Amino acid sequence: MNRVEGRVKVTGLATYAAEYPVEAVAYAYPVQSLVAKGRIVRVHDAEAREMPGVLAVLSCEDPPRLAEDADAELALFQSRDVAYRGQIVAAVVAGTYENARAAAAAVRVEYDPDDHDVALRSDHPGFYRPDVVNPDYPSDTVKGDVEAGLAGAAASVDVTYSTPVLHNNPMEPHAAVAVWDPEGRLLVYDSTQGASPDRDTIAQTFGLPREDVRVVSRHVGGGFGAKGSTRPHAVLAALAARAAGRPVKIALTRQQMFDVTGYRTPTIQRLRLGADAGGRLTAVEHVAYEQSSTLVEFAEQTATPARVMYATPALRTAHRLVRLDVATPSWMRAPGECPGMYALESAMDELACALGMDPVELRVVNDADAEPEGGLPFSSRNLVMCLREGARRFGWRHRDPEPGVRREGEWLVGTGVAASTYPARRRPARAFAFVRDGDYVVQVAAADIGTGARTALVRIAADALGVPPDQVHVELGDSDLPEAPVAGGSMGTASWGSAVVRACEELKRGDGKEGRADTTDEVGNDARLARHAFGAQFAEVRVSSVTGEVRVPRLLGVFAAGRIVDPQLARSQFIGGMTMGLGMALMEETLTDEEFGGFLRRDLAQYHVPACADVPHVEAVWLDEQDGELNPMGSKGIGEIGIVGTAAAIGNAVHHATGHRVRDLPLTPVKILSRF
Ligand code: MOS
Repeated sequence: MNRVEGRVKVTGLATYAAEYPVEAVAYAYPVQSLVAKGRIVRVHDAEAREMPGVLAVLSCEDPPRLAEDADAELALFQSRDVAYRGQIVAAVVAGTYENARAAAAAVRVEYDPDDHDVALRSDHPGFYRPDVVNPDYPSDTVKGDVEAGLAGAAASVDVTYSTPVLHNNPMEPHAAVAVWDPEGRLLVYDSTQGASPDRDTIAQTFGLPREDVRVVSRHVGGGFGAKGSTRPHAVLAALAARAAGRPVKIALTRQQMFDVTGYRTPTIQRLRLGADAGGRLTAVEHVAYEQSSTLVEFAEQTATPARVMYATPALRTAHRLVRLDVATPSWMRAPGECPGMYALESAMDELACALGMDPVELRVVNDADAEPEGGLPFSSRNLVMCLREGARRFGWRHRDPEPGVRREGEWLVGTGVAASTYPARRRPARAFAFVRDGDYVVQVAAADIGTGARTALVRIAADALGVPPDQVHVELGDSDLPEAPVAGGSMGTASWGSAVVRACEELKRGDGKEGRADTTDEVGNDARLARHAFGAQFAEVRVSSVTGEVRVPRLLGVFAAGRIVDPQLARSQFIGGMTMGLGMALMEETLTDEEFGGFLRRDLAQYHVPACADVPHVEAVWLDEQDGELNPMGSKGIGEIGIVGTAAAIGNAVHHATGHRVRDLPLTPVKILSRF
C-alpha cells in the first residue's frame, strides 16, 4: 500500500507547522547566550526596539508570566542565570522575519560570566548515581558475583568505548505558529511527535487548563526524538504572540536546532565480560558515564540492554551522571539501547576474538530463555533465528576467521555482526471511529512524523472493520482528537493501533455507526512479561589503507518484531534506522567547544549524515514472528531497532578488515590511519 498522504507530500500540498496561513502573523527570532555559565547583568534592547517593524522584545528584564513549575528548559526569561551557551536569553518580535532577525542581532546582553565546565571525562569528580534512568529503570542492578565470574573465566575483556554528542537533525526544522483567541485560548501549530502531550506541556508551562490549549501537527518532517517533548520554540512563539498581540511564527534555523532541541548524550562505557572455554558468559559488567545539564536531570538508560541480552550468572549494570554547563540531552532514536548496544556488541566481538570463537556462535550459545536481570519470561525472543537467517543470507560461512587478511589493492575488506534489541511497549490511547458519507473515519491524536503512521492506522482499521483500506480515513495530528501518546519509544503504532482496533470493534458490535475506545484498562492489565524486539545486523566494510576512509558496500538487518503491519513502511523504518546507524559509526559527531561552551559543527556542512552514495546496499528483512502477548495487531515497534547494533556491526567489520580496534566513535579516517 502506498502512503495515503504521499500525493499531498510530493505535490507540496502537505502543510507543515511553519506553513499554516495565519492572518497578520508576526515573527519571533531568539537571542542566544554567548556564555556557557553566568548571570545576565543587563539586556540592552533600546536600539532593537527602535528598529523597523519591531513589536516587542522579550527578556528577563521584564519576565513574561509563566507557571512556576514550568520545566527549566522551557521557562524562558524567568531567570538571569545562564545554564549553557546557546540558551535563549531574549527574543525580538517583528512584522517580518528579516526585521526580527536584524533587531535580534542588535540586542546586546551584558553578562557576569563564571568559569564553565562542559567536557565529559571519565575522571570527572562530579559523577553521581541517579535514582532512576529513563524512563523509570533502576540506575544500578547487581546479580551474582561479577569479580568471581571474571576471575574464573577462560577469556575476558575489559574495554572502554566512547560515543560523541549526536544531533537528531530531522529534515524539517522545529517550527511553531501560535495564535491566542480573545478568550485567552491558545492554538499552536507545532512540529511535534505528539499533539496530546505537547498540548499538556504547553498548558502546564502557561498555567492554563488543558482545554484552553490546542496543538495541531498534521505533517511532521522527521523528529527522531527531537520533537518527542515540547521544545522552547513552541513556548517562545506563544509568549511572543501574547506580547505582540498578534499570531507569531518561529522557525528555528539549523544552527539554532543544535542548541535548543536536544541531543544524544555523549557516553563513556566500560565493559567487562568473561566467558568459559565454551564461550558461555561467566560475568557481564556494563557501566555507563554520561552527562546532563544543571537544569534538568536527563539520565539515559545506556546500560539497560545488558539486562536483556545474554544469559549470565553474574551481571552488574550501572549509570553515572555528571551535571555540566550544557543544554539538557534528550531523546534520540533508541536512546539507551543505541549507544549501549554499540558498546556491548563491540565488547562481545572482542570476547569472541579472545576466545577464538565465531561471533555469531558466541551470541547463540549465550541466548537467554528468560530476561537475565529479573528473570521475567519473554513474550517472544527470536534473536538466534535472526542471527542464523542473517548469517545464511549474508554468506557468513565464507568469512575468514582471522582479521586483517583480505586485501584488494589499497582496500582491506572485512565483515562484522552485532545483535540488536528494543523494548516492545504500549501506552493507553483513545480512538473514535464513525461512518461519514458511507466511509469510515477514525480519529486519534496520533502523530505521523514521516513514518507512515497514517497509512499503518488505515490498514489496522480496515482489518478490524473488514473493509478495503480506501474506505477508511484516518485523522490525526490534532490534540482536539481522542488523546494519544507520543510517537516515541517505538510505541506509537502499538498504542494507537490498540485503541483503533477496539474502537472499530465497538462500532461493529454496536449500531454500525460509531465506536469509541480507551485502552487504559486493557494496557494496565497486560501480563508482566519481557517484551522486546530482536535483530541481527551484518556489515561488510572496505577500509582504504591509504586514506583510512571506510566504505560500507553492504548492510543486512534481520529483525524479529512481531507482525509487520505494512511491509513497505516497515522496510523504510528498518533501513532508515540502519542508515542512521551507519552515520553514527562513520561520520556523525558534534564537537563540544571546551573554550567557549556550546557546540561546534552546527550545520549539515560540518555535521555529516550519510548521503545516498554512502549506502549503496542496505537490506532489511524480517522473520514471520507470532506473539499473542503484545496488542491486537501482534506488532512490536520498529522505529528504533534498526539503529541498534548497526554501529557495532560496522566497527566489528573494521576490526575484521584491519586487525585494529577503534573504540571511540565515529570511525573517522584519522583514527583509522593512526592505527596502521
Ligand atoms: Mo524516539 S527517540 O523514542 O522519539
